[in-house]
Amino acid sequence: MRVLVTGLGNIGTTLSSLLLYYREQLGIDEIVALKRTNTGWGASNHTPLIDRGLILFPYAGEFEAQARRADYVFETTANGVGMRMRPFYANLDNLRGVSAQGSETGFGLPFMSGINDSAVLGERYVQVVSCNTHGAAALLHGLSGGDLSSINHADMVVVRRSEDLGQHQRLVSGNVVSRHVDLSSGTHHGVDVKRLLATIGAEAPIITSDITTPSQLLHSIRFMIEFNCPLTEDVVHKRISETNLLASTHKFDSNVIFEQGRRYGHAGRIYSPAIVVSNNMLIDENTVRGWAFVPQEGNTLLSTIHAFILQTRGDEAVMKTIVSDLTRTMW
Ligand SMILES: NC(=O)c1ccc[n+]([C@@H]2O[C@H](COP(=O)([O-])OP(=O)(O)OC[C@H]3O[C@@H](n4cnc5c(N)ncnc54)[C@H](OP(=O)(O)O)[C@@H]3O)[C@@H](O)[C@H]2O)c1
Repeated sequence: MRVLVTGLGNIGTTLSSLLLYYREQLGIDEIVALKRTNTGWGASNHTPLIDRGLILFPYAGEFEAQARRADYVFETTANGVGMRMRPFYANLDNLRGVSAQGSETGFGLPFMSGINDSAVLGERYVQVVSCNTHGAAALLHGLSGGDLSSINHADMVVVRRSEDLGQHQRLVSGNVVSRHVDLSSGTHHGVDVKRLLATIGAEAPIITSDITTPSQLLHSIRFMIEFNCPLTEDVVHKRISETNLLASTHKFDSNVIFEQGRRYGHAGRIYSPAIVVSNNMLIDENTVRGWAFVPQEGNTLLSTIHAFILQTRGDEAVMKTIVSDLTRTMW
């Protein structure tokens, strides 16, 4: 199979690295990537990937030809590029599937690995939901033991890092609150979680708020989940330990956890959807409150690979290997 990665930015480069690493297990013969800007000083940026077999072309003048030759496209551009290309993909008969990322709402079926796998099987267009939508959905699914109907109400505050570590165009110097867009869902994360769960006919009464902080490392989520039945500390800890969607930590400092990911994670990333500070929860009758760290792009990269396997009807056992290789239960 020949796959195309469009846009070698943050997501595109790490995804390419993972695809190269798992190419045999994933049944991929050729990995082609497109890069829009090619500055003199940036020319060496992708040498390590090219040395491992990545075939790199400039975006301009090559996009159409490379997309026509591809069996599958990973859209890893940002800011509406994927949405603009959507009609073009519709005319490519050979294409077995395409996935786009968080900014491309409406591109295809919203997807998060472990939440709506069955809905995505054989689907042509998939949109991998954003990292914080992963974090919020992981908390709902993991802390309810997969029984979303047991949730009465959930309220989460997403504390976002302002800008990717390698960039500095959107850094903020103070805390910046996001506008609530919907009376019952709050900010877009609440809306997105509901859209994701709707694909499997599930609902979760979640409302979110969102504040961006002058940090460049992990996101965090303050959560409050009220259940329709009482639950004990033991039950909550057991649920965390039994789900692949949540990892735990006893550390309170996101920089210290980020450092662990930089040391031990593939390409320096953490791939767990959310990391609960499990020794700092408030569990009171039917309500759980606490904090989780959300490791920006790692969770979406796992979902992107899983979407590829499901869309192309690949070997699901490979996904299990990748999850067990890349995630940890304790940070
Ligand atoms: N960064 C994260 O932590 C994160 C986490 C989860 C989801 N996402 C989602 O992943 C997607 C990509 O984000 P990113 O952080 O990887 O962004 P990024 O680092 O800015 O990379 C975007 C890539 O798209 C290319 N690109 C932009 N506009 C283009 C155009 N008009 N034509 C062709 N190529 C174009 C850029 O090329 P040049 O570099 O050559 O300009 C760059 O390679 C977004 O949907 C985002 O919401 C990001």
